[in-house]
Amino acid sequence: MSERVIKFGLVGIGSIGQHHVNDLSKIENAVLVGVCDIDKEKADATAKAQGTTAYYDAVDLLEQSGLDVVIIAVPHYDHPFIAMEAFKRGIHVMCEKPIAVHVNAAKAMIEAYEAAKRQRPDLQFAIMFQERTLPYYAKLKAIMDSGMLGKLTRATWIHTRWFRSQAYYDSGGWRATWAGEGGGILTNQCPHTLDMYQWLFGMPDLISGHAHIGKYHDIEVEDEVTAYFEHPGGMIGHLIVTTAELPGTNRMEIVGDLGKLILENGKLLHYKYPQPMLAFTRETDQRFAEWEIAPEEIAVNANAPSGHRVVTERLIERLLGKSVDLIAEGPEGLGSLTLANGIMLSSFQKRPVTVPIDGDAFQAELEERIRTSNYVKKAVQAPAAAEDMSASFGTTK
Ligand SMILES: NC(=O)c1ccc[n+]([C@@H]2O[C@H](COP(=O)([O-])OP(=O)(O)OC[C@H]3O[C@@H](n4cnc5c(N)ncnc54)[C@H](O)[C@@H]3O)[C@@H](O)[C@H]2O)c1
Repeated sequence: MSERVIKFGLVGIGSIGQHHVNDLSKIENAVLVGVCDIDKEKADATAKAQGTTAYYDAVDLLEQSGLDVVIIAVPHYDHPFIAMEAFKRGIHVMCEKPIAVHVNAAKAMIEAYEAAKRQRPDLQFAIMFQERTLPYYAKLKAIMDSGMLGKLTRATWIHTRWFRSQAYYDSGGWRATWAGEGGGILTNQCPHTLDMYQWLFGMPDLISGHAHIGKYHDIEVEDEVTAYFEHPGGMIGHLIVTTAELPGTNRMEIVGDLGKLILENGKLLHYKYPQPMLAFTRETDQRFAEWEIAPEEIAVNANAPSGHRVVTERLIERLLGKSVDLIAEGPEGLGSLTLANGIMLSSFQKRPVTVPIDGDAFQAELEERIRTSNYVKKAVQAPAAAEDMSASFGTTK
C-alpha cells in the first residue's frame, strides 16, 4: 500500500517559489494542491503547467485548497502574516528564510505557533535553512557537538561569496529597500550564514556591527558588513560579508584549546595541537613559540544529498509520522534574525548591543528609515527567464 501523500500549497512563485515547484514535482509523497501569487499571470501559468489550482490571495489558498502544508516563498515582510493565518487554521508551515524582517514580528509568529500547537500538538513549523544540509557544514556541526576542539576561543568567518550585481538588485521592486525588504545582505543572503554561525557556536551575548549602506550598489540598504561577537564562554567571533567581491572567499577558522579547523575551497583541515594551548600559554617557560603542525584533512562525503529538497523531504517524513528531526524548526529562525537585527542596531547606534537585543529599538530604527526614505528605484528589470537559481545558493567551495 502506498504511503499517504502530503498536500502542499505554495505562496509566491518567484525565483525560489519556482524552485519549490520543481522539487515538489519530483517528490513521491508530495502533491501540489494550489499555487498562489498576487501576479495572476504567474499563478495561472504555473497552475496550468502543474495541473493544479491558481489562487491570488494567500488566505484563499489556505481556506480553499485543502492543503496540509503551506510553503511561504514571498518577500520577507509577508512571512509572519501568512504563517499566522496558517497556524490559526491548524495548517503546517514551511517558511523561507528569513523568518521575518525584525525580531518583534518573528516573536509574534512563534507565539502564534505555540498557541496553535496547544490546540493541535502535531502542528509543524519548519524554516528553510537548507545550508544545514551541506555536507561540510553538517560535518562541522557534528565536530562542534563532539567538543573535539575543547574550549572554543575564536571563530572567524569571511564569507564574500554572495556576489550580487546591480542587475540583481534591479530585478525586483521590493529588493534592497527598507520598505520592501527591510535590509540588505544580512536580511537576504546572510540569514543562512548567520543561522550557520549560531547553529555551530550558539548565540553571542554581545554584538558589535559595522554596516555600509549602498557602498557598492545603488541601493539604500547594507551591502558590506563586518561584525564582532563575544560569547558567554569567552569565544570571540568575526563575520565579514559583502555582495561586492569577486572572486568571493568563503573561509572559516575555528580555534579551540585542543585544535584548529579551517574550512576553505571544499577542504576541511584539522590542526591537532600537541597539548592544550591555553595551559601551554600559561605554563611554558618559552617566551615565544610556534607550533609546526601538519594538518589532517577531514574526510567529508561531499556528494551526500543536500539542499532545499532534503529539508522538504524531512518535513514530509515527520508529517507521515516518522520520528525524525526537522532540519530546522521554525522558531530557530529567531537566532539568525537576532544576529542580523543586532548587527544593524549596533551599526545604526554606533555602539555594541547586548543579546537579547532591544527589538523595539531596532524596529524604530527601521521604521524611521522607511519614513524618511527618498530612494527611488530605477526601472525594475525582470530576471532572465533561463537563469539558474541554484547559482544564488551558498556553497562551501
Ligand atoms: N532558501 C533560499 O536559499 C532562498 C533563496 C532565494 C529566496 N529565498 C527567500 O524566498 C523569498 C522570496 O524570494 P524570491 O527571490 O523568490 O522573490 P521573487 O521576487 O523572485 O518572488 C516573490 C514572488 O512572491 C509574489 N508575492 C509577493 N507578495 C505576495 C503575497 N502577499 N501573496 C502572494 N504572492 C506574493 C511576487 O509576485 C513574486 O512572484 C524571500 O523571503 C527570500 O529571502 C530563499
